[in-house]
Amino acid sequence: MMPVKGSRIAFVCSALIAASSIGYNVFAHGNVTPQAVDTSKLPDIKPDNTTWVTKNPYRDDPQVYAMAKKIGESAYGGNCARCHGLDAISGGIAPDLRYLDKGEAGDEWFIQRFQHGSSRDGKVYMPPMGDALGQKAGWAIRSWLDTKHEE
Ligand code: HEC
Repeated sequence: MMPVKGSRIAFVCSALIAASSIGYNVFAHGNVTPQAVDTSKLPDIKPDNTTWVTKNPYRDDPQVYAMAKKIGESAYGGNCARCHGLDAISGGIAPDLRYLDKGEAGDEWFIQRFQHGSSRDGKVYMPPMGDALGQKAGWAIRSWLDTKHEE
């Protein structure tokens, strides 16, 4: 059975849900304190860490990829799990990230959401993570999510 997205929130605040076309919660900026991620063991991104690329740069080298998964797991736990669910299993308040497109096909969408978050009509659905956590942390999380992927 498909879980009903946003159903848990609906009991709490039906007004917000009515204002949201897809049924996810609306989050206030103040709710989220980013947890720093130590990415010093990961190689820098070319040409530089602040030029955002659209393909996971850590997937090609097995050793780097393994390190990225490790760092990504804890970065996810500290920054994403509260909304997207422990171990990437969504409880319904935000999309289930196990179903993102696999590999390169899903990289661009993933990193654009990570960097910019999601807002509509002045409401924040997901806060932007790019400035706070940096691109290296984003690709580390993406690498770990690869291990959780489901069709
Ligand atoms: C405060 C809650 C919250 C936090 C924290 C959060 N997200 Fe989100 N995220 C959402 C919501 C809600 C959406 C759906 C946005 C929409 O529908 O426009 C979303 C959407 C996404 C999407 C697009 C999913 C899809 O199926 O289209 C990705 C990728 C994503 N988030 C990644 C992350 C990552 C990685 C982190 C941690 C670094 C994170 N999010 C932290 C609430 C959150």
